[in-house]
Amino acid sequence: MPTPHLSAEPGQFAEAVLLPGDPLRAQHIASTHLEDAEQVTAVRNALGFTGTYRGMRVSVLGAGMGIPSASIYATELVREYGARRLVRVGSCGSVRDDVALRDVLLASGACTDSTVNRARYGGLDFAAIADFDLLRAAADAAAEQGVAVRVGNVHSSDLFYDPRAWLVETMERMGVLAVEMEAAGLYGVAAEHGVRALTVLTVSDHLKTGEHVSADDRQRTFDDMVRVALDALVRDAG
Ligand code: HPA
Repeated sequence: MPTPHLSAEPGQFAEAVLLPGDPLRAQHIASTHLEDAEQVTAVRNALGFTGTYRGMRVSVLGAGMGIPSASIYATELVREYGARRLVRVGSCGSVRDDVALRDVLLASGACTDSTVNRARYGGLDFAAIADFDLLRAAADAAAEQGVAVRVGNVHSSDLFYDPRAWLVETMERMGVLAVEMEAAGLYGVAAEHGVRALTVLTVSDHLKTGEHVSADDRQRTFDDMVRVALDALVRDAG
């Protein structure tokens, strides 16, 4: 049944869904990386498509920015459309000298200042982690493609414009690789519903140096990351 935020009919989403933040990125992924892609939803311009990649049925949906938006779409995909594997593909800001612009990161875990997982976990600290098989499949897919990846913790922030400047140093000291805004929420939704999730990121900006990538570079590294994510889903299914 269509949900408040998705107008697809039952069966129109695949069990594997890529989740970029930007709906136009979802459209780009569908037209560039998938075969026979069809649009299945457009409520609020959150565009969703289903097609095939190397013979595997896969969907892609623009899930918006931040944990609340991503969590709404992830939850409705799982509850109403039977999604079982959710892979976020997005950008992040590096918080350390040894993570550079354009690096590809696999978020094995996600810290957060959001309280969503405490709400799910009786007020206690829930360790929001990626599914190990998806994580391993992505690491293997990246190695095969010659894409270097870093695996580690990220920080899912509720504030893009965070006034706590000291937080960058704290993240760096605690081994966090980068800041983004959705992974901890996605991993919480996956845990709550017994499904599997992974976040794959490219570094679009650097919080210590203030550098950021050009639009062209962003597109190219984005496509590299999408291929890693799609190949990971194929490997994981096989
Ligand atoms: N903060 C949060 N999310 C992000 C950033 C950032 O600096 N860069 C890309 N996504």
